[in-house]
Amino acid sequence: MYYSDDVVEEVRMRNPIVDVVGSYVQLKRSGANYFGLCPFHNERSASFSVSPQKQMYYCFGCHAAGNVITFVMQYENFSFQEALQFLAERAGMTLPEATESRESIEARDRRSVLLKMHKDAAVFYHRYLKSPEGKNGYQYLKARALSDETIVSFGLGFAGPRPDLLYRYLKQQGYTDAQMKDGGLVSFSERGAFDRFWNRVIYPIMDANSHVIAFGGRVLGDGQPKYLNSPETMIFDKSRNLYGLNVARRTREKYFIICEGYMDVIALHQAGFTNAVAALGTSFTPQHGAIIRRYVKEAVLCFDSDGAGKNAALRAIPILREAGLNIRVLSMTPYKDPDEFIRGLGADAFRERIRAAANAFLFEIRMLREQYDLEDPQGRSDFFNETARRIAVTFPDPVERTSYAESVAREFRFDPDTLKSKITKNGEERGLSRSDPERYRPASSRKTNNTESSAVRAEKLVLTLLAEHPERFGEVEKQLKEEDFSSELSAGVAKLLYQQLREEGKANPAAIISRYIDDERSGEVSALFSSEFSAQLSEEALDQAIREAVYTIKDARISEAMAKVTDAAELIRLMEEKKKLKKPEGGQ
Ligand code: GTP
Ligand code: MN
Repeated sequence: MYYSDDVVEEVRMRNPIVDVVGSYVQLKRSGANYFGLCPFHNERSASFSVSPQKQMYYCFGCHAAGNVITFVMQYENFSFQEALQFLAERAGMTLPEATESRESIEARDRRSVLLKMHKDAAVFYHRYLKSPEGKNGYQYLKARALSDETIVSFGLGFAGPRPDLLYRYLKQQGYTDAQMKDGGLVSFSERGAFDRFWNRVIYPIMDANSHVIAFGGRVLGDGQPKYLNSPETMIFDKSRNLYGLNVARRTREKYFIICEGYMDVIALHQAGFTNAVAALGTSFTPQHGAIIRRYVKEAVLCFDSDGAGKNAALRAIPILREAGLNIRVLSMTPYKDPDEFIRGLGADAFRERIRAAANAFLFEIRMLREQYDLEDPQGRSDFFNETARRIAVTFPDPVERTSYAESVAREFRFDPDTLKSKITKNGEERGLSRSDPERYRPASSRKTNNTESSAVRAEKLVLTLLAEHPERFGEVEKQLKEEDFSSELSAGVAKLLYQQLREEGKANPAAIISRYIDDERSGEVSALFSSEFSAQLSEEALDQAIREAVYTIKDARISEAMAKVTDAAELIRLMEEKKKLKKPEGGQ
């Protein structure tokens, strides 16, 4: 469902940012802005600022930035749609019906029938579990140490021992055979209707908003297959859903605990670790990574301690790392999984294991070591070389590199200096200079860019200055066109800003941020309007800053064009342009 830009803008304008943020964070006025403790990182001094003029927030500490919509998204872990609904309600607005095509209305109707049917089925299975007929299932769950409260909160149920109990119930509720087949809950043959699940404990699988979208069913005891899951349907996509996410998303912790099984998630939640999630019996996908990253920065992997679990961890690590998550790996020895661990040693011991969880890189190296015979000199030297290579490839930052080299050297009794020089040599052999660390950082770990070019800095400065000093637009516009901005993103943002300034005579950066929320670039856009400079610039300093920034941007653009040009006449034209570009006096 999509809302038009006008609707989004109206919701945003009816929720002044100082009021909304002020209801979560204590704010104090200082000059034109408000300040408070940043809700997105731990701090003691107030570096979180809110600008009523720009209708934006910005943290000088962690650089979180955005408008009122991104604020509630970040704070409440809401999606864009949810944030919009929340803010509309807060302002006493009713959102208009989102516009939809006929196909999408039909698809939505089909989806809503399936959702309703799954909800009804979940209620049926749960009631059955609690009825005398469901005794076997109930006793099984109790024997696995689940409390009644846990059974209710996960909506656990039981599918009885006859093959068409659910079928008859759903029929009675008015669902057609076709709808039941569509949902994968019942199959049909000449011999009649067969429920997918029978004589199994039922784990409803919910989406992030607690709608039941599928079921997992476990045999009582040792039968095969141990688990049977719903097939994928139009409401169930395994690669985009995580068991336990509907609860875990509300966590105030900065990390999720990632485990393997339904029972692990349930046992952890029961023990107070409500930030545990699991994939649904499949491998982790990049979509899983992106979803987790929406809520937290870190993942603590808690995969089974057997060989299969370790391999699953080795496969999951690069995928989750690629999503920008910091990853640690928890050791459960001597237990196999979190469920057994909690029952054996309790929650406090588990909390201690979380604290002690090793960085995923050390885990990878420990696993690597198993492939070599360290008693054999050749094996030891191969392991040493491969370790050095991996450190060189993974860590561009010299400080990080040294610290990993030292801990690896300590653990595997390598001479630290030999290891460090091998790592350096490795980097050089690959034709990578030490002064250019970005080159050999794998794409995965290059999430933050701290080697921002001076042109990019200048662009941010101009966009921020225009947002705060719209009266300067006339002079800037004469010298700098929207197309002069270097990236697709900054040029697009400049275009929208210029349009606002031309048509309304004022800047509205918060509205521009809204336009980018759906494609997840709102953070980058917010950063463009959050250049850090002193708000109390004198008129002359402002003039000077603008002149320098315009010069830097144009100079970079011309140089870039000259580097690419193949046509001689065009080259001459660019050289002329460059000559005409006057370096501002007093600049660096
Ligand atoms: P318990 O054995 O009851 O403790 O279950 P568990 O949740 O700990 O399961 P386990 O660690 O054996 O497996 C992890 C996950 O893999 C399960 O939660 C299921 O999602 C999935 N899984 C396990 N066995 C099967 C199976 O036989 N078929 C399918 N489709 N999935 C399975
Ligand atoms: Mn288990």
